Amino acid sequence: MKTQEEQMIWVEAVTYEDLAVNTGKTIRYQGEEVALFKMKSGKLTAIQNRCPHKAGVLAEGIVCDEHVFCPMHDRKIQLSTGLVQAPDTGCVQTYSTKVHNGTVFIGFLV
Ligand code: FES
Repeated sequence: MKTQEEQMIWVEAVTYEDLAVNTGKTIRYQGEEVALFKMKSGKLTAIQNRCPHKAGVLAEGIVCDEHVFCPMHDRKIQLSTGLVQAPDTGCVQTYSTKVHNGTVFIGFLV
């Protein structure tokens, strides 16, 4: 049986150094749209780019600590889990990321 990582396609997204801290970048792959973030710590997170409320573009949201605020109606989403924070509810998909030779890759399940 394959591990989850073995079931992924790693898609080249961007050069790590080209990612601005706390600024989202939209990455598209075969109909999926991902918001990629480089945190202040240098850690990367990747989540589904559309807010579960009314499809606000999360890559355009404001990042504060470990969360992004949707630019449309300000729902707060935890970047590591994709969970919408109370009092709102819902979640977005999260994606694995890795850096190889200075290039960021995003893992898509196949
Ligand atoms: S679309 Fe994101 S909070 Fe409404």
